[in-house]
Amino acid sequence: MYEKYGDYSDETFSELYDYLPIYSQRDDISFYVEWANRINRDVLELGCGTGRVSIPIVYTGVNVIALDYSMPMLKKLESKLEQEEWDISDRLSVIRGDMTNFRLNKKFSLIILPFRPFQHLISVDDQLNCLKSVRDHLTQDGYFIFDLFNPNPDRLLTPAFGSVVDVPRFEMADGRMLTRTSRVLTSHWKEKWNEYEFLYEIEELNGKIKKITQKTSMRYFSVEELELLLDMAGLKIIELYGDFDSSPYEQNSPEEIYITGLK
Ligand SMILES: C[S@@+](CC[C@H](N)C(=O)[O-])C[C@H]1O[C@@H](n2cnc3c(N)ncnc32)[C@H](O)[C@@H]1O
Repeated sequence: MYEKYGDYSDETFSELYDYLPIYSQRDDISFYVEWANRINRDVLELGCGTGRVSIPIVYTGVNVIALDYSMPMLKKLESKLEQEEWDISDRLSVIRGDMTNFRLNKKFSLIILPFRPFQHLISVDDQLNCLKSVRDHLTQDGYFIFDLFNPNPDRLLTPAFGSVVDVPRFEMADGRMLTRTSRVLTSHWKEKWNEYEFLYEIEELNGKIKKITQKTSMRYFSVEELELLLDMAGLKIIELYGDFDSSPYEQNSPEEIYITGLK
């Protein structure tokens, strides 16, 4: 069985999220900030997590409505807001909600879903419900922008993919040391999703080792499948990029970045 919301239920993990270089050094922020500035109207961010993308958008003067299902991730976002140099809390509204079923009584010219939360939606029902909820909140000329990884089929076809240290030991800002190992726990070729396990080993300041695991499920999508899902939900692809420099999508691109709108 898969984790419907990607398993962001552990408070320790939401504390670690912003420390991890593979998340904090992702080069997608300026891409989303530029889109927010180009549209220059309130932005709805789905699956906002700890505000990694919403906070930089707000700092450029655009208001954000940030929605996520995970209480620990939202708690972390709120504690970050309290620590910000400027009081930006009146420009960032935080909502706990499910992106497969939300109703905000407002339409947006820009809805974003950064860093792959759509891939946590394993069932076609959840995927379509998410896209239909987006459609119902998009203005006629609005954009819905989201990114997925360009799937490596080897990882789906090799059930016993070994453990890899994907975050080598490093010192976090608070002095603790962190190492992360990841592995594919189960592969589901028929439904095209993998269950991943991340093992976080934290060396506390007193030398004690704390270990936590997170299991998360990721669906693999082909571009053709996404095109059909979007079409069924009343949306269409306007542009498809392969990286955050807005280069066109190609077979070996690292990302699939969908710029979509109403049909
Ligand atoms: C990889 S994190 C991305 C967070 C943020 N967008 C970023 O770029 O750092 C995925 C986020 O999606 C959220 N999420 C997963 N399923 C969700 C759902 N059905 N509704 C709302 N949020 C969801 C998780 O709680 C988590 O915060």
